[in-house]
Amino acid sequence: MAKSSPTFACQTCGAVTPKWSGKCETCDGWNTITEEGAAPPLGSGAARRSKGRKFALEDLKSLDAPPPRRVTGIAEFDRVTGGGLVPGSALLIGGDPGIGKSTIILQALGEYVKQGGHAIYISGEEAMAQVRMRAARMGLSDAPLMLGAATNVEDILATLEAGRAPGIIAVDSIQTLWTGALDAAPGTIAQVRTASFDLVRYAKASGAALLLVGHVTKDGQIAGPKAVEHLVDAVLYFEGERGHHFRVLRAVKNRFGPTDEIGVFEMTGTGLSQVANPSALFLGDRDSVAPGTAVFAGLEGTRPLLCEIQALVAASSFGTPRRAVVGWDTGRLAMIMAVLDARAGVGIGSSDVYLNVAGGMKIGEPAADLAAAAALISSFGGEPLPRETVFFGEISLSGDTRPVPQAELRLKEAAKLGFKSAYIPKGTKADGAGLKLTEVNTVADLLIFAGTGRAKKRGMVESNQ
Ligand code: TYD
Ligand code: MG
Repeated sequence: MAKSSPTFACQTCGAVTPKWSGKCETCDGWNTITEEGAAPPLGSGAARRSKGRKFALEDLKSLDAPPPRRVTGIAEFDRVTGGGLVPGSALLIGGDPGIGKSTIILQALGEYVKQGGHAIYISGEEAMAQVRMRAARMGLSDAPLMLGAATNVEDILATLEAGRAPGIIAVDSIQTLWTGALDAAPGTIAQVRTASFDLVRYAKASGAALLLVGHVTKDGQIAGPKAVEHLVDAVLYFEGERGHHFRVLRAVKNRFGPTDEIGVFEMTGTGLSQVANPSALFLGDRDSVAPGTAVFAGLEGTRPLLCEIQALVAASSFGTPRRAVVGWDTGRLAMIMAVLDARAGVGIGSSDVYLNVAGGMKIGEPAADLAAAAALISSFGGEPLPRETVFFGEISLSGDTRPVPQAELRLKEAAKLGFKSAYIPKGTKADGAGLKLTEVNTVADLLIFAGTGRAKKRGMVESNQ
C-alpha cells in the first residue's frame, strides 16, 4: 500500500503542493505555505469503501411552503440578506479587523431575541466579560441572548446539540476555530474549512441560521474567508474607510436574494446605527460649491445612492506627477485622464491629480466616469460645476458616452433630494422625473464646464503645448 505523504497548502490562495517552498507558485506569495497534515494516498479508500445506501429522488415542486425567514428587525441588515435569514442557511460576514463585524452581529442577534427569538452567540476572540461590556454599551444587557466563549468545534457542536436548536447561531470568528480531527494549527486553511463545514452541516440539519464571521487580512497570514465562500449560502462584506464613521454591509454572494445590495450604518458610541437615507449622508453639506466637485447619481444594488466626487488638479512640483485616489479605481482614473487628453484636449497628464469620493464611499460602477470627468475638468478650469446638478454615464475609449442601467431610478433619487438637472449619456431612455436632462454625446461636450467654454478650451490646449 502506498505510504501517505504530507501535503502543503498556501494559506493565501489555497493551492496545494507536495513539497514545501518559500514562495507559492500560484499566487507568488512569500512564506505562505504550511504543512496541512497527510493526504490519504490515492486509491487507498477503495478497499475500505462500503456499498452506498440508496436515497429517494424528488421532483422540483415543493409540497410544503418554505419556512419563514428570520428577520432581525435591523432593516439595513435584513435588506442585505434578502429579507431575513433563511432557516438552515449559512452566511459569512467578512471584513477587516476592527471594522465592526462583532458589533453588527451582536446587535442583530440582540434585536432578534428581543422579539422572542432564540439565538446563541459564540465568541472565540473575546472573553464573556468583554462581550457583556460591549452589549451594555449598546443597551442590550437585558436581551435574552445566550452567550458562549469557545473555539473547539466539537465543544460547540456538543453544546448546540444538547439544547434547543437556536433560530440564529453566530460564531465569531472562523479563524479562531479548530477541530481535534486535524493536526494543523487554528487559522490554517484546513482548520478553517473543516470547522466551518461542520458548523454548516449542523445548521442544515437543525434548521438554525448560521452566521460566521471571518477576518480578511492583507498579509495573508491567516486563512482568508475566501476558503469558505463556497461552503456558505451568502457572503456579506462589511467595509468602510478607517477614519470615517460610515460602514457599508455589502452582499457579494446570496443564494436567497439579490447581490450587490447594501446596508449603510454609522458607527457611534453606542454601536452601529442605521442610515435610512444614505444619499443625504454621503452628499453632506453642499452649501459652498467649489471647483472640482460633481455629484454622481449612483446605484448600489437596487438602491440609488448619490455621492460627491471631488477632484483636484494641481501643478506638479516633482518630476513624476502624483496620483491619489480614494474610493475609486486608480486604473479607471488613468483611463478617464487619457480619454480627456486624447478626445477633448484636456492635458492634465503632467499635473498632480487627486480624486476622492466623499464620505468614505467606494464606487465600483463605470457609470461614475462622467461625474469624474466633469469634476476633473471643473478643477482644471477653476470653475465650479452648476449647482443642483447630477452626472452619470460611462465613457468609452473613443470619448463617447454609453448608457447605464436604471437611469430612471437614479434620476428619481436626484429629484427627491432637490436636484434640478442631470447630465446623462446619449441614448438614455428615461423619464426625467422633473429634472432638466442634458445628453452628453462625447467627453468634449463637458468642456462647457471648463470656464468660458470654447475660448477656455483653446486656452487649455495652448497651455499644454
Ligand atoms: P468590532 O465589532 O470589534 O470589529 P471586528 O469584530 O470587525 O473586529 O468593532 C470594533 C471597533 O468599533 C472599535 O474600533 C471600536 C468601535 N466601536 C464603537 O465605536 N462604538 C461601539 O459602540 C462599539 C461596540 C465599537
Ligand atoms: Mg470581532
